[in-house]
Amino acid sequence: MCVAGVLGTGSALPDKVITNQDLEKLVETSDQWITDRTGIKERRQAAPHETTSTLSILASRKALEKAGIQAKDLDLIICSTISPDMPLPSTAALVQSGLGASGCCAFDLAAACSGFLFGMTVAEQFIRNGTAKYVLVIGAELLSRYLDYKDRTTCVIFGDGVAAAVFGPVAPPSGILAHELHTEGHYADHLFIPAGGTALPASSYTVEQGAHYIKMRGNELFKVAVRSMEDVSRQVLEKAGLQVADLDLFIPHQANQRITEAIRERLGMCSEKVYSNISHVGNTSSASIPICLDECAQSGRLKRGDLVLMSAFGAGVTWGAVLMRW
Ligand code: ACO
Repeated sequence: MCVAGVLGTGSALPDKVITNQDLEKLVETSDQWITDRTGIKERRQAAPHETTSTLSILASRKALEKAGIQAKDLDLIICSTISPDMPLPSTAALVQSGLGASGCCAFDLAAACSGFLFGMTVAEQFIRNGTAKYVLVIGAELLSRYLDYKDRTTCVIFGDGVAAAVFGPVAPPSGILAHELHTEGHYADHLFIPAGGTALPASSYTVEQGAHYIKMRGNELFKVAVRSMEDVSRQVLEKAGLQVADLDLFIPHQANQRITEAIRERLGMCSEKVYSNISHVGNTSSASIPICLDECAQSGRLKRGDLVLMSAFGAGVTWGAVLMRW
């Protein structure tokens, strides 16, 4: 049995920065409110020519280079996204073509903000059972394309970004030690995009109603997010026979700095061990954890042998955690 781990990471953020001051001009909000209630100061917004797949290709090339792997060596590409280029084909297929990874299996996975951890878990199992050697997992979101810049409850939160990681066999003690995933569809209407699918196909009426934009009951999700991310974090630690005190780094999904703080307190961790970049990227949904991972890998924040816990919560609702030794 192979142990799967990260061989290389890469990310791609659009150049355009949207500050809280920029949003003050669009909706009734303030830098003070956004900073106090979310911890976000700025987020990125893709240019019209950029798409989920074009940024994914950029991030993936960096990850492949770091891993020392060529695109043609990939056995599987998993693109986690809820903001694909188009309903079909999959964004993963477009990325596969752009990378020149012809012939390998490629598919999209939709688990919102938990998507990268869902993708990692699928990759781990393909590698562990020998079906695949090298798997590229991408977390890619251009949520600005689904934001109503008249809705202050969502447009201040989300940002665009993409990151990717190449997974492959690694020598123990490195590698993925435990994972745990959950979904509870009962909360589906707490965070959703009503139109554009089979339930409410796109029409001039849906556009008129703004039904193609993200709708979120943020306040109700807040408590569920904190509780779920704490529980699932403890579950993976228990599975691996490890304690919170053993962790070197905790990377939570960057949903809201107050959510991160609440989980940190409940887990009893010191701030130094909890990574946060929400102030400059906002909530990038499934790109959030891999962007953090890439920042930590590039800056040297993650060192070989470090025990890193990642946990996420998102629309669905979905939640999950992965415990990994770097
Ligand atoms: N600027 C100013 N005031 C605002 C803004 C804003 N941008 N947004 C909301 N308000 C107002 C509300 O209208 C409300 O006013 P009222 O008291 O007069 O009615 C007041 O602020 C408080 O609103 P709440 O919704 O209670 O604000 P809260 O403190 O809960 O913060 C937030 C909102 C940031 C969305 C928070 O609830 C949150 O982060 N929720 C979790 C979201 C989440 O985890 N989503 C899942 C992951 S994302 C994914 O899967 C794609």
